[in-house]
Amino acid sequence: LEKFDGLELSAPSDFHVHLRDGEMMRLVTPTIRQGGNNIVFVMPNLVPPITTVQRALDYQKQLQSIEPAVKYLMSLYLHPDVTPEVIREAKKAGIAGVKSYPAGVTTNSSSGVVDYEQFYPVFKAMEEEDMILNLHGESPSGPDITVLNAEEAFLPTLLDLHKRFPNLRIILEHCTTAAAIEAVKECGDNVAATITAHHLYLTVDDWAGDAFCFCKPVAKLPKDKRAILKIAVSGNPKFFFGSDSAPHPVEAKHGGASGKGKIAAGVFTQPYTTPYVVDALERACEKRLLSEDQVTKEKLEGFLGGFGRAFYKVSDDRQERMVLKKQKTIVAESIRAESGNLEVVNFRKGEELGWTVAS
Ligand code: NCD
Ligand code: DOR
Ligand code: ZN
Ligand code: ZN
Repeated sequence: LEKFDGLELSAPSDFHVHLRDGEMMRLVTPTIRQGGNNIVFVMPNLVPPITTVQRALDYQKQLQSIEPAVKYLMSLYLHPDVTPEVIREAKKAGIAGVKSYPAGVTTNSSSGVVDYEQFYPVFKAMEEEDMILNLHGESPSGPDITVLNAEEAFLPTLLDLHKRFPNLRIILEHCTTAAAIEAVKECGDNVAATITAHHLYLTVDDWAGDAFCFCKPVAKLPKDKRAILKIAVSGNPKFFFGSDSAPHPVEAKHGGASGKGKIAAGVFTQPYTTPYVVDALERACEKRLLSEDQVTKEKLEGFLGGFGRAFYKVSDDRQERMVLKKQKTIVAESIRAESGNLEVVNFRKGEELGWTVAS
């Protein structure tokens, strides 16, 4: 992708980030701009989850005070406390979306949704108020559900919600399968999907044995990765970037202090989001999974933010630009808090990245 060396693009946006709270928030929030982004959509899965407008606004203020040069689009966590009245209040307060986590499928989702029907009045209110429903699209555990088929098993729920609420704007977050891409394509223009950077690199073999490549939804088969790469550079505005950068303390990726606990799901990509995307596309070209002609400036710019900003109806007030440079860097091992007590390991630590960003 030599042709992108020195290319100037509108600053990218990341429509799915986990910024946490406390010390972790203070550690990861300053890395958003390092990855190139100046607009982010912030996930609400704190402990306890963000279910009130006031908490979302307080959280937004905290983030702004850490890194003022980023626009933070906020979300609520779908929960019985989020009533149609709360939706109307949220709309007035400028909150962009409501994230639904099926109960128990991932980090901090124990208070997630068991039955979507109970939320139909909320979805109706969201449809009326033009709020976005952000779906974590994995079916909760069941006798025939595994990490490999949980996303596909969820797709009928997506199609059903779209049918019941045809004007509700829905995003199938972090889609990982060819089947999910097809389902999103089938729906109307008000249904979109985000794609992460790590799913442009990974398949099952990568996370089987490497905790730092393990996230939910897990990376799937080579045919799925090929479908994701292809749709990312297709110019289809229903598919845009959301890193799902999900920081965990290094101990949590090793099964806790005892080393015997579960491995936390989440891949941390925030400091290098744009370089990862361009590097993954370039590697895919080298392996002939994509052709260089397919990867144009317009399509890359749309995927990295233009399509997402249009879907969210937001714009970059500062009209910032970013320049891609074909310059090798090695991904740093980790980022560490000054206290020395918190360390988060980077995705592909120690590996070569072919690209850097400058503004
Ligand atoms: C490989 C790696 O991990 O280094 N990348 C990948 O997509 N898994 C390198 C490569 O084969 O390009
Ligand atoms: O891997 C994941 N980690 N997937 C999610 O949906 C949540 C995230 C997290 O919060 O750690
Ligand atoms: Zn999710
Ligand atoms: Zn997420």
